[in-house]
Amino acid sequence: MSSAKEKLYLLISESVLNGTFRKAVFSKPMHKSADGPIRIDVRPVAVKGRLMLQLTRRIGVQERHENVDGDDGIAQMQQFAGLAFRDVHFQTSDAEWTARYSKKGNCTLTKRETTAAQSVPDTSHNKNRKYLIPDGQPCPFLIATGIMSPDGHVRAKQYAKFRQINRYVEFIRDVVDHLPGEGTISVVDFGCGKSYLTFATHYFFRNVSGRDVRITGLDRRQDVVDTCSGIVRELGLDNIRFSVGDIAEFQPAEQIHLAISLHACDTATDDALAAAVSWGTDVILAVPCCQHELASQLQKDRQPLFSDHGILHEKFSSLATDAMRANLLECAGYNTRVMEFIDMEHTAKNLLIRAVKRTNSDIVTTGRNRDQMQAFCHQLAIPPLRLQQKLEEYGLL
Ligand SMILES: C[S@@+](CC[C@H](N)C(=O)[O-])C[C@H]1O[C@@H](n2cnc3c(N)ncnc32)[C@H](O)[C@@H]1O
Repeated sequence: MSSAKEKLYLLISESVLNGTFRKAVFSKPMHKSADGPIRIDVRPVAVKGRLMLQLTRRIGVQERHENVDGDDGIAQMQQFAGLAFRDVHFQTSDAEWTARYSKKGNCTLTKRETTAAQSVPDTSHNKNRKYLIPDGQPCPFLIATGIMSPDGHVRAKQYAKFRQINRYVEFIRDVVDHLPGEGTISVVDFGCGKSYLTFATHYFFRNVSGRDVRITGLDRRQDVVDTCSGIVRELGLDNIRFSVGDIAEFQPAEQIHLAISLHACDTATDDALAAAVSWGTDVILAVPCCQHELASQLQKDRQPLFSDHGILHEKFSSLATDAMRANLLECAGYNTRVMEFIDMEHTAKNLLIRAVKRTNSDIVTTGRNRDQMQAFCHQLAIPPLRLQQKLEEYGLL
């Protein structure tokens, strides 16, 4: 064995045993095969207070995690370095090491001193605290949808989408306590489109929150359903399916715990809200889009300050529609908040309606909400909105 190889083997074992190991990346497999890993990342992780090594194997666009104890991790890394991969990047608390194997198996090892920045190991399961789904760590659905490059870095042009996805999963995280604490969480995504956020929901429950989840993505477009079903097959995901259909006609096969409707067009949002309420869904998240219903009904002389200007008429109608939706959800038994989804720089459709089914102990203000709604509709001289009509039809108001 050459001295460089010996040195690398020693470095692996000593740094793990004395706690100075920070991370290792093994790439450029010596023998390529379709089902073998193309890269393996190793880092220390704390699991139930015990220090272990997490091995992340990238196979195609899929990623498999395995936590092993120190001795096993040392043995595996020594094997990766000597037999399986040509390039090794190894980081300790005070240095970065690069090892390269030639085709003949000769090893060169170089060392670069680093500062004390790496002196404390990052053993958290989320390295990048800022995002629940971090940049720099390969995430299969983000790679499959072109948001990340295969090495786990967000593509510059996709950063706005990446931030939106992360903002969205924060909303999901914040409602987890209102979902069943055990068993499989059942989700429907109305008007899922290209389904970045549907896949993000699946990823969040499975990989971030460690819960079982079953998701149906519904869209009336066959092409997007075909594309999304292709991604499911490519990534080998289970418990996520896509189907073609109209929101107003969808009948779930089981109790739905979380209903999402993001940027579904115009009154499709109302159909989604009404359906979710009628099933007694625990949590509803909706980001409305292109609210035209009220704009066409609102007589111009009712609100001349707005209606003399087309753009203000549109915006006023959209805001009034969402205010009425929030109120109707309150009337139908949901604690409702309207929140900023993501700042205007990235999308103009930035209001998120969050509705959480009221429990018996919650304070009920339904009477006041009904009075407010009546007064508002009277003031605008408008007939009941589609959501109101549907909720009344279902006997839910
Ligand atoms: C703007 S895209 C939004 C996609 C995705 N939810 C997102 O936020 O990225 C709206 C999607 O809703 C679908 N859609 C609109 N009305 C629908 C309806 N009534 N039934 C089913 N799908 C509908 C459209 O086909 C489209 O794919």
